[in-house]
Amino acid sequence: MDELLVCMEGIQKYFPGVHALNNCSFELLKGEVHALVGENGAGKSTLMKVLTGLYKKDGGTITYKGSNVEIHSPKEAQNLGIGIIHQELNMLPHLTVAENIFIGREHKAGPFLDSKKTNNEASRLLESLNLNIDPETKIQDLTVAKQQMVEIAKALSFKSEVLIMDEPTAALTESEIESLFKFIKQLKAQGVGIVYISHRLEELLKITDRITTMRDGQYVNTVKTADVTIPEIIQMMVGRAIYEEPKVQSMVPEDAPVSLEVKNLNSKQVKNVAFQLKKGEILGIAGLMGAGRTETARLIFGADPMTSGEIYIDGKKVNIKTPYDAVNHGIGYLSEDRKRFGLALGLSVKDNSSLSGLERFSKIFIVNDKKAEKETNAYVKKINVKTPSIYQLVKNLSGGNQQKVVLAKWLIKNCGILIFDEPTRGIDVGAKSEIYKLMNDLVREGKSIIMISSEMPELLRMSDRVAVMCEGRLTGILNINEATQEKIMTLATQRN
Ligand SMILES: Nc1ncnc2c1ncn2[C@@H]1O[C@H](COP(=O)(O)OP(=O)(O)OP(=O)(O)O)[C@@H](O)[C@H]1O
Ligand SMILES: [Mg+2]
Repeated sequence: MDELLVCMEGIQKYFPGVHALNNCSFELLKGEVHALVGENGAGKSTLMKVLTGLYKKDGGTITYKGSNVEIHSPKEAQNLGIGIIHQELNMLPHLTVAENIFIGREHKAGPFLDSKKTNNEASRLLESLNLNIDPETKIQDLTVAKQQMVEIAKALSFKSEVLIMDEPTAALTESEIESLFKFIKQLKAQGVGIVYISHRLEELLKITDRITTMRDGQYVNTVKTADVTIPEIIQMMVGRAIYEEPKVQSMVPEDAPVSLEVKNLNSKQVKNVAFQLKKGEILGIAGLMGAGRTETARLIFGADPMTSGEIYIDGKKVNIKTPYDAVNHGIGYLSEDRKRFGLALGLSVKDNSSLSGLERFSKIFIVNDKKAEKETNAYVKKINVKTPSIYQLVKNLSGGNQQKVVLAKWLIKNCGILIFDEPTRGIDVGAKSEIYKLMNDLVREGKSIIMISSEMPELLRMSDRVAVMCEGRLTGILNINEATQEKIMTLATQRN
């Protein structure tokens, strides 16, 4: 039974200024789901990139099915039967779903691509995974969640013996996660070994057999999932206990002024949305995928055109046509898709954080570098961005730390109204509680926050009120003292 598939021992990896892996070990059995956990920047993705030949190791050995192997490229890993779903989406936006899945393996009719055959095969694959996605859609027209499902479908199409999933559920909602778990169970039954990286600790208890913890590039320990509790996992990851307390009562006075009001907001996906956001309030927005939460945020931010609707800030009607207008009116939007909208990956931490605050640092467009440097350093410290310096390129940071840079960017901008779209996606528990603390500080300073989230515990913990959407409509707003997961789910599925 307990057949060893992969054994990594004494793995070393250096990047300029970073000892990313320090004598790290990891093993994976046939038919097991093995979780890899650790704080942002602990080295999880790096260890798996070494295993899949994307990074060259600086020391240590890898044994695969009993033989010593050197894996020089992702292609070699694939040939050995080791597949990976990367943390960052890795698809070509202007190509179709089918083209992305079968890139490099397309069916040919003579010298030409046989799109029909490729589409049919993609169709069959997507259907077998219960995914309702047209293989001829361009990737750029899909939501992040659907892109993620396509990425998973692609990895599964290789029929790997080892499948690494790096944060596969970060962009998914409950029902999609359930279907992903079903595939995982099927694969496990077929003897596939699965490495499962996730910051959603409740998931680990549901789906994994063993858990290996990493801290600062080092191996900490491996335990049987059945033997541990979530607080124990957290303790292993961060070396300290973290307490999660839900909000039981709103912190906003009844007569607090309204900082943002939207009336009769309409677009293709949003129907008659109206709500008020009070000064100092955190308004949570709950809903299933496709409920229109991000679309609503994008209308308020001027990123998409509205067909009708009115926006009032501090009681005054404003005209927001572009994100530029929104920013000028003091609205910041932390997008759910950091790669597409949030970050310039090829620029440094400092440039990414200070760009949006450009006006504040510059006089007549001359950027005051000293000031940008000072503020960036302050925020990097405050939210604990793990980077050797603020001059590191953002693409070299771990996924969770990239997310923190987006956050820093809007914090520096000093907006009065902040829209956070899935702010803690992919962020480790320690950093999560830092971000929660920061959000609470921000509202205490008199800022107002809209927080879109798919994580119920987060909504219940942070919000003063929870607005719920379904199919583009607002189906209800619950005060935090009456909100429960059940009530939210009922409203989230209340179709017309
Ligand atoms: N290409 C690279 N160049 C320079 N440094 C890198 C590179 N890739 C990773 N690092 C650094 O190595 C360390 C480990 O990063 P890694 O991405 O493995 O973390 P992680 O555990 O996957 O974190 P997360 O939970 O945020 O995804 C980090 O300090 C990161 O900044
Ligand atoms: Mg990672």
